[in-house]
Amino acid sequence: MKVITAKTAGFCFGVHKAVDKAYEMTESGKKIYTYGAIIHNSEVVNELEKKGVTVLEEPNDLEKITDGIVIIRAHGVAKEIIDLLNDKGIEYIDMTCPFVTRIHDIVWEQSKERDIVIIGNPKHPEVEGIVGWSRGRASVMNTKEEVENFVPEDSHPVCVVSQTTFNFNKFKEFVEIFTKKGYDISIVNTICNATIQHQEEAKRIAQEVDLMIVIGDPKSSNSRKLFEICSERCKKTYFVQTAEDLRKRLLPGSGCEGDSLGDELHSFIDTGSVRTVGITAGASTPNYIIEEVQKIMSEQTFEQMLEESFKNIHTGDVVEGTVISVTANEIAVNVGYKSDGIVSKNEYSNDNSLDLTTVVKPGDPITVKVIKLNDGDGQVVLSHKRVVAEKVSKILEDAFNEKTVLKAKVTEVVKGGLVATVDEIPVFIPASLVSDTFTKNLGVYADQEIEFVMSEFNPKKRRYIGDARVVLEEKKKAINSL
Ligand code: F3S
Repeated sequence: MKVITAKTAGFCFGVHKAVDKAYEMTESGKKIYTYGAIIHNSEVVNELEKKGVTVLEEPNDLEKITDGIVIIRAHGVAKEIIDLLNDKGIEYIDMTCPFVTRIHDIVWEQSKERDIVIIGNPKHPEVEGIVGWSRGRASVMNTKEEVENFVPEDSHPVCVVSQTTFNFNKFKEFVEIFTKKGYDISIVNTICNATIQHQEEAKRIAQEVDLMIVIGDPKSSNSRKLFEICSERCKKTYFVQTAEDLRKRLLPGSGCEGDSLGDELHSFIDTGSVRTVGITAGASTPNYIIEEVQKIMSEQTFEQMLEESFKNIHTGDVVEGTVISVTANEIAVNVGYKSDGIVSKNEYSNDNSLDLTTVVKPGDPITVKVIKLNDGDGQVVLSHKRVVAEKVSKILEDAFNEKTVLKAKVTEVVKGGLVATVDEIPVFIPASLVSDTFTKNLGVYADQEIEFVMSEFNPKKRRYIGDARVVLEEKKKAINSL
């Protein structure tokens, strides 16, 4: 499988700087805080937390700080937060990305005379921060409908800016709508160049490949946008958070069966077709996660992993399986091996008249013994009958050693005696051991239950001999002694 990884995948310049600074400050010996998660990536946030970094969520949290240093993340914050930090004399390091700071400056300046419109997600911290730099009215628009319905209040002049990670093509579409309105609207494209390059490369790769993987945290807006862009060009686009997430979704028995990502890839392997997989990652995805995903997707590793995921079974093993399908004469069973197995009717039971559809159904668990790993057509030959027989053989052996009385149905009247079947094992009771009195017509025992003890147990020679006479004699003795 050919894997194409986007060169622009992963940390952008602004995120890189902020994350590096956070790690660097954990060595400072001071208490470190970040205002909001440093990036939208729980792996990184958790790791920093383990190094003692505390995430502050709201202005009130700043009130509680008595010492330490607050790091402002790349998304930036509203002006009121900076003012609060200054007023309280809290030491802080502003790691707001310079491209975001530029938007703050534009909004601060333009809002002297204009209303502000921000194109972006109103709930995203970057957008919340930008709103907080406007001196006057500021609104946020995220959809085409909102832009189409927009009318400047009191025909006031307007300045439009954008969230740095907004979809560039959508932004262009919105700009056209604004320009046609004919009001005094000045538009500044503040989408970050890194984002444009990132999205353009993802778009190009998604067009070329059969399957596309976008790595990111579900909370990361730019990762979700990459997913949106790739999905429009490659129907088989999947969002994964970590290499572990991907690994789980690929392996059978991982608890994620039915996940179509695994299905798609497994079918690629099965059909042996040469395919390409594209990988990109949001600006908040660390490099090591991208590398791990890339490694998993590389042909050799994936096939190895697939191979390793199958059970290693051997002739003679007794394994648990699941019925896949059943006909009157055979049962197909999944035993977790790379090939499915078959239990034929005569390996299920000694009863030739049995219709297998009346005893099992798809989805049923079944215990089977491996008879042969390949029947010539690539299927595993399995037996259920032999598992049962071995189990019963143990019961018969114990009964023989302990002289326990067994009860079974007479399944056959043969020359010289009776055959009573204990599950799948036939026990022969010679005519002389059927009763303590002479029975001329053994046919009266047909289909009757009979009690006996084992007088001979020899599995090697398949000799299982029963004695019913001794049971009757013992019973009579007991009655007579009363
Ligand atoms: Fe900055 Fe652009 Fe990244 S704005 S934080 S370099 S996506």
